[in-house]
Amino acid sequence: MRTHVVDHPLVAHKLTTLRDESTDSPTFRRLADELVTLLAYEATRDVRVTTVDITTPVAPATGVKLAAPKPLVVPILRAGLGMLDGMMRLLPTAEVGFLGMVRNETTLEASTYAERLPDDLSGRQCYVLDPMLATGGTLAAAIRFLTNRGADDITAICLLAAPEGCARLEQAISDIAVPVTVVTGAMDERLNDKGYIVPGLGDAGDRLYGVVG
Ligand code: URA
Repeated sequence: MRTHVVDHPLVAHKLTTLRDESTDSPTFRRLADELVTLLAYEATRDVRVTTVDITTPVAPATGVKLAAPKPLVVPILRAGLGMLDGMMRLLPTAEVGFLGMVRNETTLEASTYAERLPDDLSGRQCYVLDPMLATGGTLAAAIRFLTNRGADDITAICLLAAPEGCARLEQAISDIAVPVTVVTGAMDERLNDKGYIVPGLGDAGDRLYGVVG
């Protein structure tokens, strides 16, 4: 597993406001959206392309276009939805599949409660959107789900990550031969005893969409 922490002052600037507990939901959503576009730029560095011949108004030229099959973007419900628009701004022709995963707050184990994905993901490059790589359980389950369907290259985009979660994720997917990359805006200090990232930003879903019972 490759982990890439995007080291850029604009990423750090937006993350600081996201972390601030006084930032309201509309501002949080807008900043998360902008931040994902910056992270997506790094995350798509290895997106597959094919060469094409075109003609400019001046001369013939050779360029590239996204290769088939199209990349698949997979937001993890619920908080990953807040990252979808920012991602699609860079990859407007990608397809989107949905994976609903919930973390048991006592055991911290992740389980799947909904999915809307192609049955066959053979040859697909997948971009998983999950704002918080905390214990790594959700991302590990999502990556296994996608590789079981044939996905052959996976990049996870996370606003924040915790070192323990990255280590646990790497261990949990060590038997998976498919290349996995994690792109994150910051590697925070640690997890607390409730599985929250410290200093983190709190519950990403609640901050995006408000608290639900
Ligand atoms: N999920 C969140 O929303 N925040 C954390 O800090 C950890 C998991």
